[in-house]
Amino acid sequence: MAALDAQFYKSADEFFPSVASTALTYDDISLATLYSDVLPRETKLDTVLHDRLQLHLPIVSADMDTVTESPMAIAMARAGGLGLIHCNMPERQQLSEVSRVKNNVHGLIQDPIKVQPEQLIGDVLAIIEERRFGFSTFPVVDEKDVLIGLLPGHTVRPRYASRKVSEAMLHRSHVQTIHESALGDDPIAVADRFFTAHMGIHKLLVVGDGDKLRGLFTLSDIERILHERGSQFKPARDSKFRLLCGASLVGMRKADGSLDRDRILGHVAALVDRGCDTIAVSTAHGHSSGVGDIVSLIRGEHKELPIIAGNVTSGAGVEYLADCGANIIKIGQGPGSICTTRVVAGVGIPQLTALYVASRAAADKGVTIIADGGIVKSGDIVKALTLANAVLCGGLLAGCPEAPGQIMEINGKLYKQYRGMGSLAAMQAGSAARYGHTGKDATRKVTAEGVEAVKEVSPAVETVLSQLAGGVQSGLGYLGARNLGELRQKARYIQVTSAGQRESAPHDIIEIKAAK
Ligand code: XMP
Repeated sequence: MAALDAQFYKSADEFFPSVASTALTYDDISLATLYSDVLPRETKLDTVLHDRLQLHLPIVSADMDTVTESPMAIAMARAGGLGLIHCNMPERQQLSEVSRVKNNVHGLIQDPIKVQPEQLIGDVLAIIEERRFGFSTFPVVDEKDVLIGLLPGHTVRPRYASRKVSEAMLHRSHVQTIHESALGDDPIAVADRFFTAHMGIHKLLVVGDGDKLRGLFTLSDIERILHERGSQFKPARDSKFRLLCGASLVGMRKADGSLDRDRILGHVAALVDRGCDTIAVSTAHGHSSGVGDIVSLIRGEHKELPIIAGNVTSGAGVEYLADCGANIIKIGQGPGSICTTRVVAGVGIPQLTALYVASRAAADKGVTIIADGGIVKSGDIVKALTLANAVLCGGLLAGCPEAPGQIMEINGKLYKQYRGMGSLAAMQAGSAARYGHTGKDATRKVTAEGVEAVKEVSPAVETVLSQLAGGVQSGLGYLGARNLGELRQKARYIQVTSAGQRESAPHDIIEIKAAK
């Protein structure tokens, strides 16, 4: 019987070459079920995009100005995925957005923001404003990093702006501390016990020998971490226990059109300094000298930094970006829900065929790939993950409260704006370089490659991701795959006709409650 199955349900390396002259996308195929002794809830969705980018959920939020700023990136990383902060904003603002993610929830904050006794409260207020900190209590240290006090948040007010930190701070003898040697294997449990035993205390400072400041616990972080331990999702964190965060970058250019190397390297260095875990060089045409030059430039200065680059849809494109120094390649030209690249330019490859070709080139080059665009349901994610290491979503997340933008009411229904980065409005706001235009072009008439749209308001990111993850786990269960590696190895494909597609969705019924 197995031989009969093999004749119909083929592995990727048999299936895709057998239909090589037809480009296929998600709805064009279905996956065959296989014997399973795995329950969906037992399956694991962890994926490694790079040694320093280990996700527990293979979903990335798009670097689009109606999808990912810090609230989305925080929600994505808390659920185990990753958010890419878009770059359609001033560079300083993008730095602040990254800081907000990296400073969001720490277990032990190993490098806390500190102040010095001679500073004015007004200076501290300016730092809070500039770096958009959501907190205002700071350890006070001398020039050798020795702890000398704690500046309580209730004193950091404009009315005290001209007073010195030393006048407002709680002196060392009143500050609660613990020596780093007492933290043991489970610092969170130690901090949890401390806060229970010390009612009303919200900060615990960690000191090393010589009373040098080594770190800081806050009660709210500890409570959130304990809550997360019991939740469905495991957050994606860096080696310092901070949430993962990526930022997108398009090549800044000088007036003569040449790359502004100093500005690019300066901004990347500042992003890395803020803790940014990966830089995404996001463009519509990644297999181009312009994108290759930017990737090589960054790689030259940052040997270990995970670099995402794209977008491409060919094996040669993957190879080129990998040779330039990219570690993770974004695949997709024209599948996005707001894209008009295929309509306008007549180019692009339906997504599954592009993923197959790219995945084989990626395996040869030792890089990973992300399926970018066109994902509208959890079944698409399962199909994408048979070839890719993660998926990237825009439209699926744009209606969530964590996406930027106001809610608007149209005919009694609630919507949020969602626009292509190649739409005229987005290009005028700064994204023109992504489509190979200059900022000046964008204010003149250029051909848009994306539309402006709205998405119905959806529940919080955690809820949306939980439904998607549940669907993906079902898919793994049907294939008897315990994890994404087994999914890739076990997947068997068959092409479906339009009649098969119709049969695949609810049909010949009157739907009274739409599946969400
Ligand atoms: P989804 O389907 O998730 O797609 O909404 C998001 C992806 O679409 C790409 N993108 C564009 N492609 N014109 C395009 O051709 C555009 O204006 C545009 N804006 C975004 C991008 O890869 C994104 O991740």
